[in-house]
Amino acid sequence: MDKLVVEGGHRLEGAVRVCGAKNAVLPVLAAALLTDQPLVVPNAPRLSDVRTMLSVLGELGCETQRDDDGSVSVRAPADLSSHAGWEHVRRMRGSVCILGPLLARTGEAQVSLPGGCVFGVRPIDAHLRGFEALGAKVRIEHGYVVAEAPKDGLRGAELFLGTAFGSTVLGTANVMMAATLAKGRSVIHGAACEPEVEDLGRCLIAMGAKIEGLGSPRVVVEGVESLSGATWNVIPDRIEAGTYLIAGAMTGGRVRVEGCRSDHLSVLTERLRDAHVPLEVGPDWLETQAYDPRDPAQRPRATDVTTHAYPGFPTDLQAQWMALMTMADGISVITERIYPDRYMHLPELARLGAEIRRQESTAIVRGSERLSGAPVTASDLRASAALVLAGLVADGETHIHRVYHIDRGYELIEERLRPMGAVIRREKDEDGV
Ligand code: EPU
Repeated sequence: MDKLVVEGGHRLEGAVRVCGAKNAVLPVLAAALLTDQPLVVPNAPRLSDVRTMLSVLGELGCETQRDDDGSVSVRAPADLSSHAGWEHVRRMRGSVCILGPLLARTGEAQVSLPGGCVFGVRPIDAHLRGFEALGAKVRIEHGYVVAEAPKDGLRGAELFLGTAFGSTVLGTANVMMAATLAKGRSVIHGAACEPEVEDLGRCLIAMGAKIEGLGSPRVVVEGVESLSGATWNVIPDRIEAGTYLIAGAMTGGRVRVEGCRSDHLSVLTERLRDAHVPLEVGPDWLETQAYDPRDPAQRPRATDVTTHAYPGFPTDLQAQWMALMTMADGISVITERIYPDRYMHLPELARLGAEIRRQESTAIVRGSERLSGAPVTASDLRASAALVLAGLVADGETHIHRVYHIDRGYELIEERLRPMGAVIRREKDEDGV
């Protein structure tokens, strides 16, 4: 296992180009199951989650290819298997989005339940209700979701996809994909409005699907006989972009994040402005301006955030925001409305000297004048990113163990940060933590 060693106290300066979005590419790759023609994603990020998705698709009988330039292609031949086992699926909850396209294409799907994850139960009941509304029979058996379409295929329907927490991103992706090949019209109420869902919908349209209302909570899908292949560049990763922007804000350097969609990050740039972080924004770039975050007159101001579905503050940036707030002037209140238990970074940030108290789904952060480096353990992807950010400003060295989590969602983070002046290296973890 590897660890990252970060030496704090170096101001970042420079530009970083954002990769294709992890949470867009995973369902787009699953959409390849809807056709026997190749689906090509030229800008797929080099992430372990993408490799896992390719293994899952490979297990189903797809031909998959990854070129040196990053481009990925998938072809799902006619004799697909409908069985995806625990071995691959358990590694990544995102693989649950093969259920909808598999069911639509082969008429059946047996997919291992992904299981819980470190930040909570993460049920898929809404996905399953959506399939049932399209006429499928769904049961849970021996840890698998077993779904069967009627003999003459799925039927379009009017259905509601809301959950106790609002909408569901992968649930919308799953049901939208299933509906593309259903007979007749489906109206999905309570659809997720996240840009990644819209991107998937646009990819499906490029494959021949008929979809309206993308980006709104009412998505209408007119089923078609068949879909064709496509070449699809996914949207830039707004969470990766936001993470690097916060790195600029924390180190006080001029960090230009290029190749992003600033309209997908409006809520973050607003909150950064509220925190008095100097910032410039263009249509496809964002740039923090140089300042001294440790100067009492310039310290970022404590600023509250509450996570919500898009266009609200993303849960996937909550941990990184908390890292920024540990050095802010004053007390900030962070409330997690999507995953009330997504706070594994909290005790680890505390090891670096952060003062944080948790009350149920709320964290109260008292900004401190300094953090000090320490060994910490990464427990999930975004928590790991928060620890790297904190390490960039902590005195001395921060050793981040179990760093494989970060490779799930950030393409070689140390090689993106180093050219901007970060002192960060990857080492074999002799402690084996
Ligand atoms: N929920 C239900 N029932 C369901 C589905 C969801 O109650 O059937 C609840 C969840 O427990 C949660 C809320 O609804 O409280 C939202 O969950 P959602 O289904 O939207 O999450 P997801 O689709 O499983 C995706 C991203 C996550 C991101 C969330 C929220 C992918 C591969 N994953 O998950 O990304 O946090 O949306 O925006 O797209 C990450 O990248 O680090 C990550 C965890």
